[in-house]
Amino acid sequence: MDKFIEIKNITKIFNAKSDIEVVGLKDINLEFDKGEFVVLSGPSGSGKTTLLNLIGGLDNATNGEVIIDKVNISLMNESDLSSQRRDNIGFVFQAYNLVPVLTAKENIEYIMKLQGASQKQCDKRVLEVAKKLNIEHILYKLPSHLSGGQQQRVAVARAVASKPKLILADEPTANLDSVSANELMDMMERLNKEENITIIFSSHDSMVIKKAKRLITLKDGKILKNEIVL
Ligand SMILES: Nc1ncnc2c1ncn2[C@@H]1O[C@H](COP(=O)(O)OP(=O)(O)O)[C@@H](O)[C@H]1O
Ligand SMILES: [Mg+2]
Repeated sequence: MDKFIEIKNITKIFNAKSDIEVVGLKDINLEFDKGEFVVLSGPSGSGKTTLLNLIGGLDNATNGEVIIDKVNISLMNESDLSSQRRDNIGFVFQAYNLVPVLTAKENIEYIMKLQGASQKQCDKRVLEVAKKLNIEHILYKLPSHLSGGQQQRVAVARAVASKPKLILADEPTANLDSVSANELMDMMERLNKEENITIIFSSHDSMVIKKAKRLITLKDGKILKNEIVL
C-alpha cells in the first residue's frame, strides 16, 4: 500500500549559494500513514520547522522529494503549491496568526470561503468544529479579545474547518500555559480520531510530547529516533 506521506532523501541547505551555508536538514527519509498523530521533537535549531515547512510546501528542499497522496509536491510550480496548501493542508503556528480585523467565526471560515463554500455551508461547518473545540461562545469576538488558549483553539478550528487531509502544527502550545496546552492537545487528539485527520506537530514540551502516538526526535537536521509510543 502506498504511504500517505513519503519524504525521500530530503536535504535543506539555507544560503546554498553563499559562503555561509546552514544545514537545516540532512538526507531525511520518513513515511507517514493516514490518520497518524505524530510529534517532531528535538532542541531548538534541530530542523523541526524546516521539516514542517517542506511537508507543507511553504519552502523548497535543496535535494530530495516530498510525496503526499502520490503527488510529488517537490515538482509543483508556485500556483499548484498554493492550491495544494489551500485544499489539502491546515496550518497551525506558534503565534496563532489569526487575522486581527476578523471575528473568530470569520477567521475559521476564511479558507472555506477561498474554496468557494457558501455562507450556509460555512455556518454549518463552523458550528460543528466550534463544538469540538469548545469555542461556540466566542465566535463573534475579535482575536484581541480572546486569551492565548482561545486564540489557538480558533486557529485549530480554522485549520480543520476546510477538512484538509493533513494538519501541520509548529509548536502550537509554545505560548500557552500548561492547562491550556493540555486542553489544546486533547482537542487535537479528538479531531485526529473523529475526523481522521493526520496531524504532525512539533514541540519540545515533554507534557505535550507524551500525547503523541509516534515520536520523531531530530538533532542537527538528522533523525535521532523514530518510535511508536503506546
Ligand atoms: N531562513 C533561514 N535561513 C538560514 N538558516 C535557517 C533558516 N531557517 C532555519 N535555519 C537554520 O536551520 C536549522 C534548523 O532550524 P529550524 O528548522 O528552525 O529548527 P527548529 O524548528 O527545530 O528550532 C538551524 O540551524 C537554523 O538556524
Ligand atoms: Mg521551530
